[in-house]
Amino acid sequence: MTIFLVGYMGSGKSSLGQKLAFNLIYEFIDLDVYIEENEGRTIKEIFKEDGEDYFRKLERLYLHRIIDSENTVISTGGGTPCFFDNMEQMNEYGTTVYINMHPKALIPRLQQSEIFRPLIAGLEGEKLLDYVYKTLREREGFYHKAHKVVTGYNLSAKKLQEFCLED
Ligand code: S3P
Repeated sequence: MTIFLVGYMGSGKSSLGQKLAFNLIYEFIDLDVYIEENEGRTIKEIFKEDGEDYFRKLERLYLHRIIDSENTVISTGGGTPCFFDNMEQMNEYGTTVYINMHPKALIPRLQQSEIFRPLIAGLEGEKLLDYVYKTLREREGFYHKAHKVVTGYNLSAKKLQEFCLED
């Protein structure tokens, strides 16, 4: 089985995915980290040097390289399900789980995060809130194509595991 975690930036896909994989004795792949390792540069550098469109092509390419991994939890990037046919492909190859969170819950998490996210770099206060509201609204339709939707508040890896395994 392959489990794809999808959702907005800061919803906990990477940390929960890592713990979930550990508990299930599965492999864990963080798509952003996988891209960085294979490209030999950071997401920040890819965006800066080649732009978002190029990043989306790489994201698709690397997603397809790992899409048929068995017994693996894959944490995707916040934009992964929203480009090309990525979401349909993930739905075909595995179980997709959307970690759903309200912008008000996402903002403090994004502000406290040490991960550099090119799309929100330099945004603060009202501007950040507006950006998150707007893009989450645009992206929700893609996220909701997931097989399962779980609320991200107080979500533990244990709860996520039970949720992933139930019918
Ligand atoms: C992005 C989310 C990031 C990363 C890139 C673009 C997005 O991943 O893929 O900065 O479009 O939402 P996280 O969701 O892990 O922050």
